[in-house]
Order: sequence, then C-alpha cells, then structure tokens
Amino acid sequence: MTPLRIAVVGVGHLGQHHARILSTLPDVELVGVVDSNYEQACTVAERLGTKPFADIEPLFGRIDAATVVTPTLYHHPVASAFLKEGIPVLVEKPICRTLAEADDLIRLAADAGVPLQVGHIERFNPAFEDLARRPIRPKFVEAERHGPFTGRSVDIGAVLDLMIHDLDLLLALVRSPVKTVEAVGASVFGGHEDMVNARLVFESGCVAHVTASRITQRPKRRLRIWAPEGYAGIDFVTRKLVLVQQSQEVRQYGLRADKMDAAARAKLKDDVFGRHLQVKYSDGDRKADPLTAELRHFIDCVRTGRTPRVTGEDGRDALELAERILVSLRSHSWEGHADGPVGPNRMPRPAGWLFDVPRAEAA
Ligand SMILES: NC(=O)c1ccc[n+]([C@@H]2O[C@H](COP(=O)([O-])OP(=O)(O)OC[C@H]3O[C@@H](n4cnc5c(N)ncnc54)[C@H](O)[C@@H]3O)[C@@H](O)[C@H]2O)c1
Repeated sequence: MTPLRIAVVGVGHLGQHHARILSTLPDVELVGVVDSNYEQACTVAERLGTKPFADIEPLFGRIDAATVVTPTLYHHPVASAFLKEGIPVLVEKPICRTLAEADDLIRLAADAGVPLQVGHIERFNPAFEDLARRPIRPKFVEAERHGPFTGRSVDIGAVLDLMIHDLDLLLALVRSPVKTVEAVGASVFGGHEDMVNARLVFESGCVAHVTASRITQRPKRRLRIWAPEGYAGIDFVTRKLVLVQQSQEVRQYGLRADKMDAAARAKLKDDVFGRHLQVKYSDGDRKADPLTAELRHFIDCVRTGRTPRVTGEDGRDALELAERILVSLRSHSWEGHADGPVGPNRMPRPAGWLFDVPRAEAA
C-alpha cells in the first residue's frame, strides 16, 4: 500500500504524540512537523526522523492529510488553509473558537469533498465504544471531568477545554436537541472560567448534570447514566465500563420486599447486586490507545472517503452547546440580583480566609 503522506501542525504537549504515533504506523509517511516555535519543530522532527517546518505553505502539494494540534485560536486559519488546498484535516477539539469559523471549515471540507474530523478523543475510548454499541436511552446523566491546572489551553476556559468532551459524548448518546441550559462557573486564577457546572434538559426528557474543573488535585473523568435499560458507568481514566440491569423477574414484577419472608429479607442486601440487579464489568481492550485509534480512523477515512466518526458538524454541535453554557454562566448572578457580582470573573468578595492568613498578607 502506498504510504499516506501526512504532517502534524503544532507539536506541543499533544501534537508531539500525534507525530510520534503517526511516525510508527506502517502505512503512513510522516512528511514533517510544523510549529511556529521552529526550535520545537526541530526537536520533535529530530527525535522522530522527519523534517521540521516553521509554516505550512511548503507542505502544499506534498501531503495527503494533516492533523492540526495548535491552540484553538489557530484551528481555523490553519485548517482552512489546508482544506482550501483540498487536503483532509483532523483538527483537535474544540473545532474552532466560534460557530462562524466552524461553519466555514465544514463548508470548505464539503466543497473540497474531503474528510474533516474533530479530535473528540473520548469517542475512541474503548469503554465508550463498548457502551455506544448497546441499546441505551439515557434519561439522567452525570458527567464529571476534573484535572489539575496545567497552564496549557489558557486561551480558552474549562467549558471549551474540558467540558466539550462530555458535551460531544452526550449529544452522541442522547441524540436529542437540548431544550434548556443552566450553568454556573467560576474563575479562580482570572481570565476564563476554571470550573463549571451545567444542567441540561433535552427535548427527549433526559437531564444531564455536567461538571468540569481544571483546578482539581486528582484527575477524574466519569460518566454515569441511568436509563430504562439500566445503569452504565464509565471511568475514562481506567477505561472501565460497569453495566447494571434488572433481572428479568424484577423488570417484570418489581422487587416485592414486603412479600418476602424474614429469611429472604435478611439476605436481600447480599442478593441485590448479582441476583436482582445483574452487574457486568466490561474491561474492553484497555491496552487500546484512544489517540492511536482516532488517528487510524482518520487515515482510514482519508483512504476510503468514509465519513469520520466525529464530523465537523459534530464538533460544531458540541461548540454550539458549549456557547449556550458560556452564555448562561456569564449571566449568573451570585447574589440573586443583576446589580451584584455576575459571571465567572466577578465573584463576590471573600468574607475572610478559610484558615491561617497567608504569610505575605500577614506581614
Ligand atoms: N483531545 C484531547 O484530549 C486534547 C488534549 C489536550 C489538548 N487538546 C487540544 O490540542 C490543541 C493543542 O493543545 P496542547 O495542549 O498540545 O497545546 P500546546 O500549547 O502544548 O501546543 C501547541 C503548539 O502549537 C504551536 N503553535 C501555536 N500556534 C501555531 C501555529 N499558528 N502554527 C503552528 N504551530 C503553532 C505552539 O508553538 C505549541 O508548540 C488544543 O486545541 C487543545 O484543545 C486536545
């Protein structure tokens, strides 16, 4: 098979992993890595045995596809330049900064007739892939995505940086428009919101509570779903899926604890999980690396013309929902009236210190 010629643009924290993985795939030729920080491009290129570039123009006519892993601010200018040349693009999440930019990428990809994929990587998490194959109609969902502050992606806040992963997963699972959005968010370091909670009500009747924080000490990425079919819990970090369903008897008749004799009732606590509620731990292929799967899928779509699992439209829909959440949290009034502090950057004045006064302040 002729190797697919590909380049990675933006080889910082994540982009160097795109480049590393692509350099190991047998049916791919990593033609080069581009970074506006040319030293960074040289370092990564040398490590992977490829060529460094400071900008993308020299690659036109020399590559069959590109992945765009720059800060969000540059997704549109870089991806649109490739699409105008008829070059398929995998652009990292969030697709762009604005809906107008996202629509433009979608139109350019359609005009060129080439795939545009968005890097919502959790869709390739084996636990989510496993769940997505099952018949489940979520009715109540809790999504939590917490991590420590990294100092990266500070051009956006926690909604576009983290929560957007869960918004995409919710839209893919619930498959219903979102009717109402209510959100609250706070900026701890200044600038954008560092933590957010949103309550989403879908037209299908599903309700989702979604929380994201980029200032939590221990990482946590979980999705918990209640549905008529049962319960599903995903831990995206360990890539584990837990499924619980009613036994046939319980589904048909319910659990009549009041009709049980004393001995059966005494055993009930031990019998609930296993007998009345059946539990399945689905480990999937936990060695499967989601980023490798995502890149392989993109390559397959470029070769075959197949529609990517996460399209430009999917990226746009997640961004649109994210924008609704941002509008809601920016208008949240912390003291119940619009004259008081409103939104993530205007918090109420602290009433005091929770514990010892910090030394610099005490001096
Ligand atoms: N899918 C995920 O789970 C996930 C995880 C992390 C980051 N991301 C996304 O990946 C992107 C990059 O994030 P990161 O953490 O790697 O950031 P980063 O700051 O570590 O790296 C970005 C790199 O892009 C380079 N760059 C900036 N502007 C450029 C331009 N115009 N042309 C070429 N290079 C340019 C920078 O010099 C830097 O080396 C962001 O969009 C982020 O949201 C996605």
